[in-house]
Amino acid sequence: MPRTLAVQAPAAGVRLITLQRPEALNALTTELLGELAAELALAEQDAETRAVVLTGSRKAFAAGADIKEMAERDLVGILEDPRVAHWQRIASFPKPLIAAVNGFCLGGGCELAMHADILVADEDACFGQPEINLGIMPGAGGTQRLLRAVGKSLAMQMVLTGQPIDARHAQRAGLVSEVTLPELTVERALEIARAIAGKAPLAVRLAKEALLKAQDTDLASGLRFERHAFTVLAGTADRAEGIRAFQEKRRPEFTGR
Ligand code: CAA
Repeated sequence: MPRTLAVQAPAAGVRLITLQRPEALNALTTELLGELAAELALAEQDAETRAVVLTGSRKAFAAGADIKEMAERDLVGILEDPRVAHWQRIASFPKPLIAAVNGFCLGGGCELAMHADILVADEDACFGQPEINLGIMPGAGGTQRLLRAVGKSLAMQMVLTGQPIDARHAQRAGLVSEVTLPELTVERALEIARAIAGKAPLAVRLAKEALLKAQDTDLASGLRFERHAFTVLAGTADRAEGIRAFQEKRRPEFTGR
């Protein structure tokens, strides 16, 4: 069976994962999600990997869950769906994940992109949750993550009408941080990944965790977590190196210790 992903190491510390089901606009089969979860687990274990870029094809990041596969799943199939575990593994990836979105980013594809920490999109990309057109609703975090990303009114409009928004609208709403020309999306995402890969890994990891806490918790708990994380970093060799390098007017050499 051909793999549904391609994995490359285009720069030191950076992995590029490309979804590869162009014949179905990268629709997310269970196999694809399983391969992606496994690939992220490898990236997590590999100390050399400091950031991951996830992309699709020029026409589609991903056009949603695979509807043909979904059609065969009944209620029991959905209750026992292995996809839930795959999504959980993707959501718990602790290193920075950057989505480079070209073209259609719909349904489960939009939900996948929202698992990323940073989203870069091409100016022709569109984002939507069209599940309502199929008589269903988002089931992989779409209602929760979209509302947190773009606010109540736009999230309601997108989920209840099924109508997509374009990349500029997504940027204005806060779903996307940068919009690029279509041919530059992956390059820009890789640039951001390279910049992150040069930072102190423990600081990056704890900063990501603290930022995610801001979405999931009340302010007092989030501030407590931030303070603990900040204190933990005081004991790292990379903190000493970062401060020494500043004083000696040179670039720091971080080791992840
Ligand atoms: N699942 C399976 N196959 C899909 C697919 C999907 N989500 N989206 C596209 N494809 C397939 C098409 O069936 C077609 O294959 P065939 O030629 O073999 O029929 C191929 O990809 C190309 O698609 P189109 O010919 O439709 O391309 P287009 O440019 O005319 O239209 C599109 C593009 C508007 C994205 C259209 O394909 C579309 O509407 N796709 C479905 C989008 C959708 O509803 N996504 C939500 C799925 S449900 C979900 O995601 C739920 C969840 O996670 C919980």
